[in-house]
Amino acid sequence: MNQLEMKKLAAKAGLQYVKADTIVGVGSGSTVNCFIEALGAMKDQIKGAVAASKTSEELLKQQGIEVFSANEVLGLDIYVDGADEINPQKMMIKGGGAALTREKIVAALAKKFICIVDESKQVDVLGSTFPLPVEVIPMARSQVGRKLVVLGGAPEYREGVVTDNGNVILDVHNFAILNPVEMEKELNNIAGVVTNGIFALRGADVVIIGTPEGAKIIE
Ligand code: 5RP
Repeated sequence: MNQLEMKKLAAKAGLQYVKADTIVGVGSGSTVNCFIEALGAMKDQIKGAVAASKTSEELLKQQGIEVFSANEVLGLDIYVDGADEINPQKMMIKGGGAALTREKIVAALAKKFICIVDESKQVDVLGSTFPLPVEVIPMARSQVGRKLVVLGGAPEYREGVVTDNGNVILDVHNFAILNPVEMEKELNNIAGVVTNGIFALRGADVVIIGTPEGAKIIE
């Protein structure tokens, strides 16, 4: 079974958490694209969705699903999103698709975060396989980069990428994130950082892992 097939398995299993007559929070990325496609079959049972990226918004509309802005809803029952890495405590690194800030905003609206991943995303220590994305205000790029170096990271400017919010991304290599909650707070305190890709203060509640043996659910 290839990686896309495992993503599809996890995405489809995510549908069981969608309740009738609710607005669903939807993240972004290739696993979420599979979820959006599957959600299309349930479009008449839900009120709509709040999307964490312009790409997801477009795909939801193509499925005939009404898209609400985050400002239009008081809260969401669930938020469904992928991850670049996930540890046994259900903390994640996200932002491979540069949508981390909006993902954190929409996730914060939801009662339950459902993380859908293929089995390759599981790690013991965050930062082991994937550089940590940090969204930065463009004028602060160099100074934030220097601060990240002092903290032991090796930041790399993601050339040619501008986020949906008009900012840039620094991908930080060499960070072994042993205390994700403290690191998330510390990085957010650097002037010029909009968001960092550690999702530990608000981790996932349910993890659905696509494996060759089927979708494994950890609650
Ligand atoms: C985008 C994200 C994605 O959830 C993450 O990159 C996983 O992507 P994929 O489902 O394509 O593996 O955080 O900012």
